Amino acid sequence: MAESIYGKHKEVLPAVLKHLVSQIENYNETKRKETGEPAYEHLIYRIKSEDSMREKCQRKGLPPVPKSALYDIHDAIGIRIVCCFLNDIYDNIKFIESIPGAKVIVGKDYIKSAKPNGYRSFHMILRMDVPFEDVLGQNPGQYFAEIQLRTIAMDSWASLEHQMKYKKDIKNPEMIVRELKRCADELASCDLSMQTIRNLIRDEH
Ligand code: GTP
Ligand code: MG
Repeated sequence: MAESIYGKHKEVLPAVLKHLVSQIENYNETKRKETGEPAYEHLIYRIKSEDSMREKCQRKGLPPVPKSALYDIHDAIGIRIVCCFLNDIYDNIKFIESIPGAKVIVGKDYIKSAKPNGYRSFHMILRMDVPFEDVLGQNPGQYFAEIQLRTIAMDSWASLEHQMKYKKDIKNPEMIVRELKRCADELASCDLSMQTIRNLIRDEH
C-alpha cells in the first residue's frame, strides 16, 4: 500500500478532529439546556481524503508530502456547522474563538461579502495546540482545521451549486448561473427576515 500523504500523523488526525467536535457539541448541549434552543441545527465533519489532498497539493504547486498536507494546507480537518439563524453563526464563532489552545488565524466572511456567484458562508482556519507530535516534529504540536458556518438556506444553495460544478453537459449554463445567483440573494433576504422575526418574537431588537 502506498504511504499516506499524512505520513505517520494519519492516526492523530481523527483524535484532533474528535477533540474539537466534542467541544462544539458540548457547547450546543449547554446552550440547549440554558436557553431551550440549540446553538446550531447540525454539524458535519471529515478528514480530507488522500485523493482530494493529493489533488489540492497539485493544484497549489506543492509536493505531495505530509508537510504540504498538514502545514501548508489547512483543511485536512474540516467541520461544517449549519445553523437555523444568522445570529447563531456569530454566536458559534465567539464560542470557537474562546476554545483554549485554539487560535483563529483566518476568518473569511462570505456572508457580509458574498462571492460573485452568490456563495455565502463564514470560513475560519483554526490553529490548535494538541498533545501530539506535529509534522514539524514539535510536541505538543500544532494542527489546523477549517470550519465553515452557514445557515440551512446557504447550505442547500451550496450543495445545489456544487452539483452543477460536477455536471459537464448542462444545457443552458448561463441561465442556471443567473438563476442560482437570484436564489442566493432571495435566500439571503429570507435569512435576514427570519432573524428579524425571531428577534421580534423574543422581543430583542
Ligand atoms: P481552496 O483552495 O479550495 O481551499 O479554496 P480557498 O483557499 O480559496 O478557500 P475558500 O475559503 O474560498 O473555499 C474553501 C471551501 O469552501 C471549498 O472547498 C468549498 O467547500 C467551499 N466553497 C467556497 N466557494 C464555494 C462556492 O462558490 N460554491 C460552493 N458550493 N462551495 C464553495
Ligand atoms: Mg480551503
